[in-house]
Amino acid sequence: MPQISDRVQTFTDSVIRRMTRISNTYGAINLSQGFPDFDPPKAILNRLAEVALEGPHQYSITFGAKNLREAIAEKQGKAIGRAIDPETEVLVTCGSTEAMMCAMMTICNPGDKVLVFSPFYENYGADAILSGAEPIYVPLVPPEYDFDIQQIEDGFKAGAKAIIVCNPSNPCGKVFSRDKLMSIGELAVKYDAYVITDEVYEHLVYAPYSHTCMAGLPGMYDHTITCNSLSKTFSITGWRLGYLIGSSVVVETAKKVHDFLTVGAAAPLQEAAVTGLHFGEEYYTELLELYTKKRDFLLDGLDRIGLKHNVPQGTYFVMIDIQEFLDLPQFQGFTDLEFCEWMIKNIGVAAVPGSSFFRENINNYIRLHFARSEETLKEALTRLERMKSLLP
Ligand SMILES: Cc1ncc(COP(=O)(O)O)c(C=O)c1O
Repeated sequence: MPQISDRVQTFTDSVIRRMTRISNTYGAINLSQGFPDFDPPKAILNRLAEVALEGPHQYSITFGAKNLREAIAEKQGKAIGRAIDPETEVLVTCGSTEAMMCAMMTICNPGDKVLVFSPFYENYGADAILSGAEPIYVPLVPPEYDFDIQQIEDGFKAGAKAIIVCNPSNPCGKVFSRDKLMSIGELAVKYDAYVITDEVYEHLVYAPYSHTCMAGLPGMYDHTITCNSLSKTFSITGWRLGYLIGSSVVVETAKKVHDFLTVGAAAPLQEAAVTGLHFGEEYYTELLELYTKKRDFLLDGLDRIGLKHNVPQGTYFVMIDIQEFLDLPQFQGFTDLEFCEWMIKNIGVAAVPGSSFFRENINNYIRLHFARSEETLKEALTRLERMKSLLP
């Protein structure tokens, strides 16, 4: 057999997405991979129906349809607090997933170091390998998931060219305060490095916390590459629409990477999504109210059952501590992955093993998401209650 590359053998397929496939095989309630089980806003769907007949159906401009880039620049310009040029500072990508890969490939030479928090959204590990970068992990320590700024400075001193900051953070739900982000930003400026932010959950930040855009902090615009998405904000994860915002130097280069990776995102979907970007503030208020209710419903249920969990400040994920189960004789020697497989088959609820997010040898967490109807969450809680009966 001809050989395949060594590079791709250093990482596995996504465990998150694998859990969805196993969940489907066993007909479990899928609280693993984060996507909603409810429809996108009606206005977006109506526009999609029109676009199906009117077009466009051919390639759009490779770096994104003009009206979509203008709408993104206007909305995110308000969030960042600065005018953004839709021609030179916005790149539309196939999801934030591609934006992150473009960002990494744009700034990294083979062997460059990039700081990554642990736990981290699983894609960043593969993104680093595929772009030739070497990750240096900085722990976010449970249960507060705080970082030690000295470790970040040490990483920059060791030559890190960038740090990836997922805010709000998947999987731990951490929302970094303005001060914490400033402390990271000041180091990026001091060491002439980039901050690559992943802000796909920017609208899912629960009171009393609030979202701060790294790019909007004093002196940070030219040091920040913002990766963002329409997936979570408009419940259209399958449309694969995301974007990258940054200085024209970065974006003009990222456009080349994007052009040869994908040529562009789906033209009719770009056109239909513009509708969403023109929604007023009330849309985001209602979205947050919806997710706050879901979060409270799930967390109340977990408390009633007695499962130990964190309280996410943002995102739609919650981490459950399964140590007390792993200590039971029937689970001796189980990894968290084996525990999740057991849950799918015996409890009928799919979760993601925490070890797919942690660099450290941490095995006692699983991640659930609550982007589900209340009815589904209720049924999931009924099933999870059965787990508790295993405990003495
Ligand atoms: C932190 C984070 N970034 C990026 C993504 C992927 O976003 P997209 O659908 O825009 O590729 C996800 C999806 O779960 C995510 O949790």
